[in-house]
Amino acid sequence: MKPRVYVTRLIPESAIKKLADNADCRVWEGELPVPREVLLREVQAADAVLSLLTDKIDAAVMDASPKLRVISNMAVGFDNVDVREATKRKIMVCNTPEVLTDTTADFAFAMLLAAARRIVEGERMVKAGKWKTWGPMILLGQDVHHSTFGIVGLGRIGTEVAKRAKGFDTKVIYYDAIRRPDLEKELGIEFRDLRTLLAESDFITVHTPLIPETYHLIGEEQFKIMKRTAILVNTSRGPIVDPKALYNALRSRQIAYAALDVTEPEPIPLDDPLLTLENIVIAPHIASASVATRTKMALMAVENLLAGVRGERPPHIVNPEVLAK
Ligand code: DGY
Repeated sequence: MKPRVYVTRLIPESAIKKLADNADCRVWEGELPVPREVLLREVQAADAVLSLLTDKIDAAVMDASPKLRVISNMAVGFDNVDVREATKRKIMVCNTPEVLTDTTADFAFAMLLAAARRIVEGERMVKAGKWKTWGPMILLGQDVHHSTFGIVGLGRIGTEVAKRAKGFDTKVIYYDAIRRPDLEKELGIEFRDLRTLLAESDFITVHTPLIPETYHLIGEEQFKIMKRTAILVNTSRGPIVDPKALYNALRSRQIAYAALDVTEPEPIPLDDPLLTLENIVIAPHIASASVATRTKMALMAVENLLAGVRGERPPHIVNPEVLAK
């Protein structure tokens, strides 16, 4: 008998096909996330679920799904899954690292350039018919080249961002809970404690996972330390930056600009005060959204899932302890 799989959204076709060839699969085809009551109903008979970062996979979902063996999240981040609860129940939790690293690093840089060079403000001006002439004082931004570039979180994506920053002849400093002398040597980058990094950087780009220790890691205190010309970029998870503190810092020009691909909450409500500011660029969590990368992520999520339901070790399991005899 084929395993029963529930897929919480339409994913690239090649991945759905591979899944359908190997499993009895049902897919939520709505444009918006699967409603909670539908998810709770659909997982009842499932051996595995292919989930997205928009799905809260908590104890209630696991309780509703007595046969569940694999939660395969189509994302590198898995803060939407209660891994502790899954591990208690010997359910494998999988993610999709590596395939999105370069694409996400490219996008972090795109956001940074958009903020530094005020590209979105310029576009708004052109479309509003306000471009009257070339002007020596119009939309002056900040140079990225030869700046000091601060990376918070030197994991895979942070490391790729460091390489890109080096290509712009910047001085790259980083903060991470784990110091990486190998990468310091290889990339010519320097370690700083978080406080010093915030004080020295012209650009601060955040690449940590969302865990209890990183919740509101960047808040009122941290904004006070930053330069008044600092630009903050967040492409990791919204709750790493305290949105109220960010609003105050941007509004009072305690820092110059922010570029967010992630917000708290997501989507950002239309009446959120951050949306009233000129000195912020916000994208709808699309850092990994290239055709090639989303296809690779979906295929990797399927591979993880199928390996798990076959009783094999999934290539990217985040709680391997469940496999221990
Ligand atoms: C992830 O994978 O965690 C990103 O946020 C979406 O690609």
